[in-house]
Amino acid sequence: MADDLDDVTDDETAESSGAQIAVHWREEETYPPPASFTAQANASDPAIREQFTEDKFPDSFTAYADLLTWFKRWDTVLDTANAPFWKWFVGGELNASYNCVDRHLATHPNKAALIWVPEPEGEAHQAITYRELYVRVNEFAAVLKDLGLKAGDRITFHMPMVPELPVAMLAAARLGIIHSQVFAGFSGTAAGHRIADSGSTVLVTMDSYYRSGDLLDHKVKADEAVEAAAKEGQQVDKVLVFRRYPGKYSAATPMVEGRDVFVDDLLAAHKGEIVEPVALQATDPLFLMYTSGTTGRPKGCQHSIGGYLSYVAGTSKYYQDIHPDDTYWCMADIGWITGHSYIVYGPLALGTTSVLYEGTPNYPDAARPWRIATRLGVNIFHTSPTAIRMLRKVGPDEPAKYPIHFKHMTTVGEPIEPEVWRWYYNSIGKREAAIVDTWWQTETGGFLGSTLPGIDAMKPGSCGPAALGILPTILDEDGNEVPAGSGKAGNIVIRNPWPGVFQTIWGQPERFVSTYYAKYNKDPKSTDWHDWPYFAGDGAVQAADGYFRILGRVDDVINVAGHRLGTKELESAALTVNEVAEAAAVPVIDDIRGRVVEMYIALKPGYEATPEVENKVKTAIETDIGKIARPKNIWIVPDMPKTRSGKIMRRVIAATSNFTDTGDITTLANPEVVDKIRHQVQSAKVAKGEVPRELSETELHEIEHFGSE
Ligand code: WTA
Repeated sequence: MADDLDDVTDDETAESSGAQIAVHWREEETYPPPASFTAQANASDPAIREQFTEDKFPDSFTAYADLLTWFKRWDTVLDTANAPFWKWFVGGELNASYNCVDRHLATHPNKAALIWVPEPEGEAHQAITYRELYVRVNEFAAVLKDLGLKAGDRITFHMPMVPELPVAMLAAARLGIIHSQVFAGFSGTAAGHRIADSGSTVLVTMDSYYRSGDLLDHKVKADEAVEAAAKEGQQVDKVLVFRRYPGKYSAATPMVEGRDVFVDDLLAAHKGEIVEPVALQATDPLFLMYTSGTTGRPKGCQHSIGGYLSYVAGTSKYYQDIHPDDTYWCMADIGWITGHSYIVYGPLALGTTSVLYEGTPNYPDAARPWRIATRLGVNIFHTSPTAIRMLRKVGPDEPAKYPIHFKHMTTVGEPIEPEVWRWYYNSIGKREAAIVDTWWQTETGGFLGSTLPGIDAMKPGSCGPAALGILPTILDEDGNEVPAGSGKAGNIVIRNPWPGVFQTIWGQPERFVSTYYAKYNKDPKSTDWHDWPYFAGDGAVQAADGYFRILGRVDDVINVAGHRLGTKELESAALTVNEVAEAAAVPVIDDIRGRVVEMYIALKPGYEATPEVENKVKTAIETDIGKIARPKNIWIVPDMPKTRSGKIMRRVIAATSNFTDTGDITTLANPEVVDKIRHQVQSAKVAKGEVPRELSETELHEIEHFGSE
């Protein structure tokens, strides 16, 4: 089968053979990197790969650590004694805030570190030089210190996209306080759960921010967060409230006496104060980033200072191709891992200029990003397939009207359809830019799969080969290797540790081992890293040329607009509604957001399916998680398709919602319900004009495997 991969055509179809799926994946044509890009690239010689081969591991990664300034050099590169809790650069001491701020003062104090673009177009940009960033970080660190916070304490931020957020992160990092930034679009309750899980006593928020033209009251979420945390036994002593317009409170929600304080007032008392960066262990935690998994409890992914910072600096250099004089714009939100690694820590460690935008990309119109890029002279642009799909839909001809010239562009977070990739390449990149499709995860700290932009050919829809020093392979359910070019899909694993890998799940070390390492480990006592492949939870296929195509999650996680939502979280929110007996969330293919959620509900006996119940479910999800999780449709059905052991068969309802074949239903206890549900749901969808287009083989694979029953 390896041989026919190169000449397969459009009309190839997927065929199912038992548990293993063999697919003739349609191969895309490749695009060489532009010569002008290669000529200036940080990695332009293919020999760089030889420095990162398996025989040179783990010492190869000292090249990344050497990009940083260490107060004390490490003694051991990789300590595996407590496998799989890997320890990188043991004995080394450093400070992330020092590396991202102080050390640049000697070379370019007055260069812009951050350029903040407020959403209202009439509002002035804020260019914050490295010197100014240094002053602000120190002053906020003084505020935190004054509150009694110290290394190892946790602090939660629930901040929008404003420069106060990186300032707060770097201030915490200066003191070794472990920060946990919760995406501003999450509800107050969701922030509260994360506060409780991390044991934070201080919450930092902002009164308001702009989103699609509205100045939102964000402070109200702080009150909800504190209340939700208290219910879980975690008391928040202080809520620090930045003001969107310093000196002027812009939220309707009142401040709580004794608990809530305006940060601008506190800062006034610490003007010009300097707080020395603390020399911290490389293995100390830098931050927690919560993500969703298969249970309702979110996972606080704990990232280290030394390993993480080395890895994001190294990958920013070679994969983002950041040079100090670039103007780099990543349109992601700092509330996600992409923003941590590739807006704040990576770019600032390299001393470049990183652009921050407050609002939505298509506000007030689809040309906003191109006006920003033109005005600021952005030459590296980084965004998600969802944003690309949206900008393409609302303004396909807009990029041509602006003199934008990107040397490099990134796509991240979800699979990108080849057709969308080509629009990104032709219309936004104007065929001049190298594109990297970067595959990675909250847990992995930085890129795992990507082309080297100055060296490797680009292939639409594939992330490319493994990143430098990363050793991925594809395994079947029994742990056998699925060879490249076999046309077979399997689970992608990383055979070796790397510096950016998370250290543990905060407070849940057993879950860390069982979720990510137990599946393919044969000897739980082994301290040899070869025995601990990292299970990423993604399906993938590897072409004969070694390029990986990521097929999506193999667990119960739905990737909506590049954001991971756990079906259990969605379902538990729905189950808080009194009338609801059972709930199941499934993904539906969406032309803009990649996937959206549809929720199936079965009611307790005696209750009627009414629009009120539907609304209650919607509200419960928005309150518990946030508007990003709002389901597209809620279907109240007579019964759920279940296995004999009573487990809801999610792939059957996923197929119903996506108009695909329901597959084998002989193991169902109640097969008769399948037709009933299909009739109900699909006729309603047809009436609403919601019939999806024909799915690609990647999409079909995901729907057929959803919930993997
Ligand atoms: C998916 C985002 C295809 C994947 C950095 C992964 C991708 C999950 C890609 C992690 C890509 C990420 N192509 N799929 N280039 N990048 N994914 O934790 O399923 O928010 O497991 O990290 O997004 O999402 P997370």
